Amino acid sequence: KTVYVLNGPNLNLLGTREPQVYGSQTLADVEQLCTEACARHGFTLVFRQSNHEGALVDWIHEAGRLHAAGQLAGLVLNAAAYTHTSVALLDAVKGTGVPLVELHISNVHAREAFRHHSYLSGVARAVMCGFGVQGYALAIDGLAQW
Ligand code: DQA
Repeated sequence: KTVYVLNGPNLNLLGTREPQVYGSQTLADVEQLCTEACARHGFTLVFRQSNHEGALVDWIHEAGRLHAAGQLAGLVLNAAAYTHTSVALLDAVKGTGVPLVELHISNVHAREAFRHHSYLSGVARAVMCGFGVQGYALAIDGLAQW
């Protein structure tokens, strides 16, 4: 089965972006963590990042087609700032029925109030936040138990 790991806006800046919040590892390092986690479980990994909401919608639909074919283990989505703004991403998850892990590197609940609400949590099977980039590997280990 395949695991989709999708990353939203500004996550291409990981490593240099607010390192006190997000750590010093880069998105390439995160991809490596995910590759290793998927290898542990025999999953194929699709790992992507975009700053564009519509690209994320298209990729959720792509994951949805795999889901419909019984070939998707799960979608790990760090929608970044779109978490707090995007009805389009919510509708994409709802419309495809993909099994979703919502992920945040930081503990969004310990941060500004505008980060406390997520459009995605209500349609997520699981929410991972605050474990730093290690959360990606933990999320893949978790969905392997579904
Ligand atoms: C984030 C948290 C969001 O509030 C923020 O907009 C991000 C990253 C995280 O991984 O902690 O860009 O999703």
